[in-house]
Amino acid sequence: MFSDKDIARFANLETPFYYYDLTLLQKTLSDCAAAAKVYNFHVHYAMKANFNPAVLQKIKAVGFGADCVSGGEVNKAIEIGFDKKQVVFAGVGKSDREINAALDHDIFCFNVESVQELEVINELAEKKGKLARVAIRINPNVDAHTHHNITTGLDENKFGVNSWDLTACAETLKKSPNLEFIGVHFHIGSQITNLDVYKNLCVRVNEFAGWFEERGFIVKVLNVGGGLGIDYHNPEQQVPDFAAYFKVFQEFLEVRSNQEVHFELGRALVGQCSSLISKVLYVKNGKKKNFIILDAGMTELMRPALYQAYHKIENISKLALADSVKYDVVGPICESTDCFGKEVELPETLRGDLIALRSTGAYGEVMASHYNLRENIVSVYDTEG
Ligand code: LLP
Repeated sequence: MFSDKDIARFANLETPFYYYDLTLLQKTLSDCAAAAKVYNFHVHYAMKANFNPAVLQKIKAVGFGADCVSGGEVNKAIEIGFDKKQVVFAGVGKSDREINAALDHDIFCFNVESVQELEVINELAEKKGKLARVAIRINPNVDAHTHHNITTGLDENKFGVNSWDLTACAETLKKSPNLEFIGVHFHIGSQITNLDVYKNLCVRVNEFAGWFEERGFIVKVLNVGGGLGIDYHNPEQQVPDFAAYFKVFQEFLEVRSNQEVHFELGRALVGQCSSLISKVLYVKNGKKKNFIILDAGMTELMRPALYQAYHKIENISKLALADSVKYDVVGPICESTDCFGKEVELPETLRGDLIALRSTGAYGEVMASHYNLRENIVSVYDTEG
């Protein structure tokens, strides 16, 4: 919810921009940290969700680690000041250059996604005279019941080592002197709202950890990934139920006394702390459709075009719901998928009104593009941090 003061301030700013509520971010982070502490769980922030420096500073300050998926993210995490002993590096296609840089940084762990990748990391670590800590990312074939474009833990997905490759994995680990196996890693998908999915994951984690133990490996880390969803329909219900989420793992994971449980949360931490604020350029009232044309498009917020994702749309210049009209809310880009919502009920809207697209903190600003030579989008904050 925006205050009158916010709206008056927005009216004087150049649009579009991402507005960040760092106060809400702080509350979300504190709630998550407190809920994780109850069970001594370790949280790594999945940096891909948002790498705005002000956001990263807050997350670092709360003591979370960083989950990175590219050399660029590893470098950024170190530059921001995340403890390198809390930096993990996942991804199906780590290049030699990225692996070498991560080895130079002595990061905590590589989450390895194939037998061949194990061989390459061992080779590169040997050349540097280093020992690389690795966890095996296993594809557990658990359905995350989310949009198919953001499902990662099924046999048909490219991610992780499939169960039939685990024997080769174990053999490679045993004959690789420059690798230190530290545990198992999973990530089955994103925007997961049904916690039962995580119960199924826990069962598989127990099985796979046991599999490695039976073969003489010490499994120190159980990394269960991220994926906890947020309520896009109710952006005011802003802080996810971290306590309920962590409780599932406490109940269903078999954790030995020497083991640590790690999480990689992205969306749940940052999703609700930002909105994309845009201005209405034109209103076209047609016979079949009414269109609101915004100055923000899929170049600033890609999720609706890419995943048919829902973001709540509000006319914040006119909060009263008098005389509501149904509009298709679209951007200025020359693509028919450049549409934020169809048949959206809004108060009668005029050129110059401000429109908020809510819950854009995760995978919003980071997925912006320069298509159509669009300019960089700016960020605005509720406080100076
Ligand atoms: N760990 C790994 C290995 C991941 O690949 C991801 C996200 C996460 C953790 C964090 O997941 P989260 O807690 O944020 O759900 N662009 C899409 C989402 C892609 C997620 C990719 N991986 C979207 O806008 O919905």
